[in-house]
Amino acid sequence: MFIKAAQEKDIAAGGMKAVTLEGRELVLCNCGGTFYAVERACGHANARLERGALTGWILTCPLHYAQFDVRSGEALSGPVPKAPDSAHADPADPALKTRGLKTWPVRSEGGHIYINITVR
Ligand code: FES
Repeated sequence: MFIKAAQEKDIAAGGMKAVTLEGRELVLCNCGGTFYAVERACGHANARLERGALTGWILTCPLHYAQFDVRSGEALSGPVPKAPDSAHADPADPALKTRGLKTWPVRSEGGHIYINITVR
């Protein structure tokens, strides 16, 4: 069952928006006018992905820069190790594996974005 999640005009091209639907935290991604929905928590260490960067279909985590394909949720790369001279306060834990993201079907209609969260 598709549920209304947002209005298209609220998410600029290349932008993201976090939404909560029936207790699930998701991120809506606008990839050139096509919308995708992925889980909000990074597959590495649960950073909030809407704070990252979206380039085409690739979402980069803001914390350790793992990358995901928002069309499939596939993890394309894991965290980038901390540089020795980096001021970054939260180094990536090399023991943590990076899993892919859950995704949900998205439909755009009448300026609204709907997500089928009953799938998966
Ligand atoms: S929390 Fe996203 S790469 Fe570490």
